[in-house]
Parts: sequence; C-alpha cells; structure tokens
Amino acid sequence: MLVLGIESSCDECAVAVVEDGRRILSDVVATQIPFHEKFQGVVPEIASRKHTEWIHRVASQSLAEAGVSPAGLDGIAVTALPGLVGSLLVGISFAKGMAWSLRKPLIGVNHILAHLYAPQLEAPIEYPFLGLLVSGGHSIICIVKDFDVIEVLGTTIDDAVGEAFDKVSKYYGFGYPGGAVIDRLAANGDDKAFVFPKASLHKGEHRYDVSYSGLKTAAIHQLDQYRRNDAAATPENIAASFQKAAVDILLDRLLKAIGDTGLRTVVAGGGVAANSRLRRELGSRAVRDGLDVRFPSLKLCGDNGAMVAGLGCRLLERGDRSGFDLNASPRVALFRRISR
Ligand code: KG4
Ligand code: ZN
Repeated sequence: MLVLGIESSCDECAVAVVEDGRRILSDVVATQIPFHEKFQGVVPEIASRKHTEWIHRVASQSLAEAGVSPAGLDGIAVTALPGLVGSLLVGISFAKGMAWSLRKPLIGVNHILAHLYAPQLEAPIEYPFLGLLVSGGHSIICIVKDFDVIEVLGTTIDDAVGEAFDKVSKYYGFGYPGGAVIDRLAANGDDKAFVFPKASLHKGEHRYDVSYSGLKTAAIHQLDQYRRNDAAATPENIAASFQKAAVDILLDRLLKAIGDTGLRTVVAGGGVAANSRLRRELGSRAVRDGLDVRFPSLKLCGDNGAMVAGLGCRLLERGDRSGFDLNASPRVALFRRISR
C-alpha cells in the first residue's frame, strides 16, 4: 500500500511517500526556520502562508523522489490535529483536493500518535511499550498499546520541555530554534556550574507529571542564586546546566513509570528526542538496566511526513476513512489514567 503523508501542523512543510507503513520512499521536509528566526518563535500567520506557497512544490518533489505517480497512490494521509489551525488547514485542504481528484481514500492523523509511530519506520517494535513524547508542544509519558491507542500517565502541568529550551535560548539570545542551539552549546559547558532546584515531586495520580516553569524561571531570573561559586555564567555553562536539569526531570518520571508498569521497552519521539543528553542518558540506562530504548533517527524526531504516511497506512489498512468534512483542531483530548 502506497500512502502519501502530509504534515503542516507547525513550521515544517513536509510530504512523504511510505510503502506498507514501513518503507520510506521519500521524505521531503521544507523548514520555515529562516522566516521565524527574527521573531525567535513560530509566527502562525507566516507559517500558514508559507505552507500555502510551498505545499504543491513539496508534494510534487516527494512524489518525484519516490518515483510514484499520483494515480499510483492508495491513500492520502494528513495531520489533522493538534497544531496551529491555519497551518493544519493548508495541509488538510490540499489533501482533500488530492483525494477528491484522484478518487483515493483520505485519512486524518493525530500528530502525537504519528510521532510515537515514527520509530516503527526504522525497526518494528512490539506493542505495548512506554512512550516518551517530547516536543515544543508536548511532554507526555504514556503506555502505547497500539498504533492508535495510548494511555497517558503523565504530562506537563505548565510548559512543554521543548518550549522551556526555546524560551531560555530566546531570553539569552543564544539562537533559534532553542533546543538544538542549547544542545550544541552544552557540549562545551560544565553541567554543574549551576545547580537548579529539582521540581517538587508529584505524588499519587500525578507522579508522572512534569513541570518546567520553575526551571525556566530559575534559569532566566534567578541564575546567580544557583551558580557554583567558582563557575562563570557563560552561555555554554548555562546551557549545559539547564539541559542537565531538563533531562533529569524526564528521566525521573520515566524511571518511575518503568518501575510501576514493568514495561521494558521505551520509545521516544518528538523534536526533543533529538537531544544528545537525553539520548545518551537513556541509552546508558538501557545498557545498565537491560531496557530496550528506541530513539528515531534525528530526521524522524522532528516533524515529518513519513510518520504521518506510516500511521495513515495502518489506519487505512484497517478500513478507517475520513470524510470530506475533516477539520483541524488545535488540541487533542487524551485519555488519561486517573489512578494506578
Ligand atoms: O516535534 P517538533 O519538531 O515540533 C512539535 O511538534 O513541537 O519539536 C520541536 C521542539 C522545539 O521546542 C525544539 O527546540 C526542540 O524540539 N528540539 C530540541 C532539540 N532539537 C529540537 N530540544 C532539545 N535538544 C535538541 N537537540
Ligand atoms: Zn511534532
């Protein structure tokens, strides 16, 4: 089954062709970073207009690279939620146009589930497993029971982890987008130059939740308070210490979830899954504790069309279809376990 996947939920205009939900035939990602850089953040109005200008060219390139004609496709998948509504609507409308003119099935895809599907494009992983979805908009620890069934154990109570990276970077003028810049700076910094306070531990039903506003405030407004006496406030030291604290929060909750659920496979996804410290720390934990930890390759961590096409294929194979009234939604209702 050949499925075209369209992703336009934020600032990446991406289209891919995937065969049988596994084999990536093409994966074109046109990034809008240069257009949002001077604002140090994604400007929704600019994002949707760029998608409008680019989507046809990106889709054409993706089909050409895959060596697939539009008529050879078996379905069109598109991110329908969550995301910036104006941006989502561009991808959805383009997908509808393709599906209508080609008389092919249309399927709307959940972006969060697509991120959690991404590693399946590189090696099959058996369900259930623990999912760690960390991006600019989400920080979710969940049990992934199937390609479209997750049970949320914990989430952020304020900022998403990627958002905290972006805000700290923006404040200090380190560069854009913040996560990748902080990761790069941290490589040459002392991660003990600043010892930020650990976020208070959540108990009971919230024991897997994370919080980033305290760390963000400490790193931005109370920096000197947490500085080791002999340490300098260099960009590298700030980046390394902040990154350590941000990753420690995720590891703490994740290790609790591993202990409680007994699940030994952990699958990460989303832009922050590209973080070198998270990959290293979780990787060494895996060796030490005999866990099976999977990170997508760097290209599949960020937003891409392949994860949408892959998940779309699974849904289409099952007979799922979206109608031409498919709409965009900025948010998604996630089933949350109330108590364990
Ligand atoms: O998944 P994604 O591309 O878009 C969303 O769905 O949000 O994630 C983007 C987020 C941004 O906050 C960006 O700063 C962060 O991922 N990010 C990173 C790294 N690369 C991207 N955060 C930490 N370390 C990185 N290497
Ligand atoms: Zn994403």
